[in-house]
Amino acid sequence: MSVPKPQMEEGFSFLSLKVVLLLVLLVQFTVADSHHKHAGDGVQPLSKIQIHRAVYELHENASVKAYPVLLGTKGEDSQWVTVEVASPKPSEDDWLAVFSPANFNSSTCPSTDDRQETPNICSAPIKYRFANDSNADYVKTGEASLKFQLINQRADFSFALFSGGLFSPKLLAVSNAVSFVNLNAPLYPRLAQGKYWDEMTVTWTSGYNIIEAVPFVEWGLKGEAQIQSPAGTLTFHRESMCAPPARTVGWRDPGFFHTSFLKNLWPNSLYTYKLGHRLSNGSNIWSKSYHFKSSPYPGQDSLQRVVIFGDMGKAERDGSNEYNAYQPGSLNTTDQLIKDLDKIDIVFHIGDIAYANGYISQWDQFTSQVEPIASVVPYMIASGNHERDVPGTGSFYDGNDSGGECGVLAETMFYVPAENRAKFWYSTDYGMFHFCIADSEHDWREGSEQYKFIEKCLASADRQKQPWLIFVAHRVLGYTSSSWRDGSFGEPMGRESLQKLWQKYKVDIAFFGHVHNYERTCPIYQNQCVNTEKSHYSGTVNGTIHVVVGGGGSHLTDSGPVQTTWSLFRDSDFGFVKLTAFNHSSLLLEYKKSSDGKVYDSFTISRDYRDVLACVHDGCEPTTLAT
Ligand SMILES: *[C@@H]1O[C@H](CO)[C@@H](O)[C@H](O)[C@H]1NC(C)=O
Ligand SMILES: *[C@@H]1O[C@H](CO)[C@@H](O)[C@H](O)[C@H]1NC(C)=O
Ligand SMILES: *[C@@H]1O[C@H](CO)[C@@H](O)[C@H](O)[C@H]1NC(C)=O
Ligand SMILES: *[C@@H]1O[C@H](CO)[C@@H](O)[C@H](O)[C@H]1NC(C)=O
Ligand SMILES: *[C@@H]1O[C@H](CO)[C@@H](O)[C@H](O)[C@H]1NC(C)=O
Ligand SMILES: *[C@@H]1O[C@H](CO)[C@@H](O)[C@H](O)[C@H]1NC(C)=O
Ligand SMILES: *[C@@H]1O[C@H](CO)[C@@H](O)[C@H](O)[C@H]1NC(C)=O
Ligand SMILES: *[C@@H]1O[C@H](CO)[C@@H](O)[C@H](O)[C@H]1NC(C)=O
Ligand SMILES: [Fe+2]
Repeated sequence: MSVPKPQMEEGFSFLSLKVVLLLVLLVQFTVADSHHKHAGDGVQPLSKIQIHRAVYELHENASVKAYPVLLGTKGEDSQWVTVEVASPKPSEDDWLAVFSPANFNSSTCPSTDDRQETPNICSAPIKYRFANDSNADYVKTGEASLKFQLINQRADFSFALFSGGLFSPKLLAVSNAVSFVNLNAPLYPRLAQGKYWDEMTVTWTSGYNIIEAVPFVEWGLKGEAQIQSPAGTLTFHRESMCAPPARTVGWRDPGFFHTSFLKNLWPNSLYTYKLGHRLSNGSNIWSKSYHFKSSPYPGQDSLQRVVIFGDMGKAERDGSNEYNAYQPGSLNTTDQLIKDLDKIDIVFHIGDIAYANGYISQWDQFTSQVEPIASVVPYMIASGNHERDVPGTGSFYDGNDSGGECGVLAETMFYVPAENRAKFWYSTDYGMFHFCIADSEHDWREGSEQYKFIEKCLASADRQKQPWLIFVAHRVLGYTSSSWRDGSFGEPMGRESLQKLWQKYKVDIAFFGHVHNYERTCPIYQNQCVNTEKSHYSGTVNGTIHVVVGGGGSHLTDSGPVQTTWSLFRDSDFGFVKLTAFNHSSLLLEYKKSSDGKVYDSFTISRDYRDVLACVHDGCEPTTLAT
């Protein structure tokens, strides 16, 4: 017995050497990989499920029961459901999938699927949880009771118990179906500024196609006569998606999107509105009643408060999808904004919106999460890599980050006042602010179509009336210390192309997302601080202040090891920026954390119109000697 012992030990140490080698390789692979992908993005939880591999092993003694069966009987669009699971052979990696529509078996697979064998299940669930999530004893007892929060997503739901983990799913049992009363109900209104300052747009989602019902908005000044305005209807199909998973397992019927243009608004006034659909027999289906305050007149001198953040994403309040594992800060950011909503006039979510990555069900859940904000103040979005990028589809970057959506979801579900919503650049005015929103996923370089737009947008700010000129793009076209790409600080090409414009048109602040943290620079031009002041700026606009505000919710990015002279404040935490314009000569920027809503960084700008006109380095057209 004593002889084999050293052999065993040798075997063991050889094995552990192999394990160590494997770990080293794994770590290297992960590091290398994160240089190409984005270190902070995480993995879409639904993409971990190998749903095509699912096999049926229905067990007569396994059961799943869900109740109540009928949801929304009091008009709710969201409700908690209890799901009771019993399994005769429980194991730790048993999991519960929520499917919608409820009938997910192969009879619902598209016939166009070019696989040899039709899979048993060909669409991903809308969310999932491990069976042991609410009851660690599940592995012993085989019994668990889980609560799910469902939102009205235009189809019924069923709950399916799988063993075999997410990689080799074996279907043990399926629940009864549960369903909302009116699956077509108009839901999740989101406001956006129209093409003119006195126009508000309302976009919502429903299950009513134009041939089934006529969409409209009933609206007017609060307490006064309400009028009805028509709305448009848009949708898209699986074939509009550019690649998997949006075209395959991630596809889900998106419903219909309606936009109404509420025009000729009085400035600064409280309006109420309701979404409606007129059925062919003349009766109307109504949403809840909502309200908003109309925008100020461009140039108007009054208190104006703007919130800006990027990269928020969504999370499930019921703990689904490995709770908070994908966008850990998303719900905190959402909740902080809701808390402060009566002190916010307009919101900019500057790209990486839902991180659905081709799992289309996630967009409903995102619009439901932000509804308390987006139904009350304009929710203006910019396009990010997670909305747009698919190789070979005209996106400037060749990543697969949109999961095949190629911009269609963002461009259809949210209105922006762009000439062409597939080219996601636009300008919008809000009182003393003029915003130029760029689209970092399309070419911005000198000579490009977008470059011309950016110049025109910046040039069109009448600085005497709109002193606060703001540039926005999703990727960091300006400055960040975080280095995903070999310490090269964002997209230096962007800086080379655009800094001339920022300087010439004296942009006050440029905002970026994509890098998941907060960072603020000095007023900067050509990599040089043009000012030694740190927090109370005044006088001429010698350079633009760059602010990265990508900590809306997705996995955080480190601030990076390199110390630069231009970086004045960095925080790798979840948060957002609030800009307050008190008047034409005073602006306050505050960085607030999503966890407590408190201010962790701030600065002010005080300046007169004369300071904006003053010629600074590269900041004016040449003058002639003629008098
Ligand atoms: C199901 O449970 C019944 C009663 O306990 C038992 O007789 C039967 O063998 C079980 N079926 C299977 C497939 O295990
Ligand atoms: C529940 O199951 C998951 C997935 O298999 C596992 O990672 C986790 O440790 C389990 N939790 C408990 C409390 O057993
Ligand atoms: C699959 O769906 C068809 C049609 O809805 C139904 O007849 C059949 O029983 C289902 N199969 C399973 C295994 O649920
Ligand atoms: C109109 O049709 C809807 C849906 O079919 C029905 O619920 C409603 O009662 C009808 N209204 C009238 C006035 O017939
Ligand atoms: C994008 O996905 C395609 C198809 O899976 C793959 O061939 C390509 O390498 C991916 N591109 C990147 C940049 O990851
Ligand atoms: C602008 O607002 C700031 C901050 O409230 C105030 O100190 C300043 O006096 C105001 N300036 C004018 C011209 O009203
Ligand atoms: C969310 O906010 C809570 C309450 O402030 C805090 O305890 C928690 O750490 C925050 N979560 C994240 C991921 O920051
Ligand atoms: C800003 O530019 C002006 C004009 O070029 C110059 O006079 C002034 O000193 C500069 N200010 C700072 C703080 O560099
Ligand atoms: Fe991004």
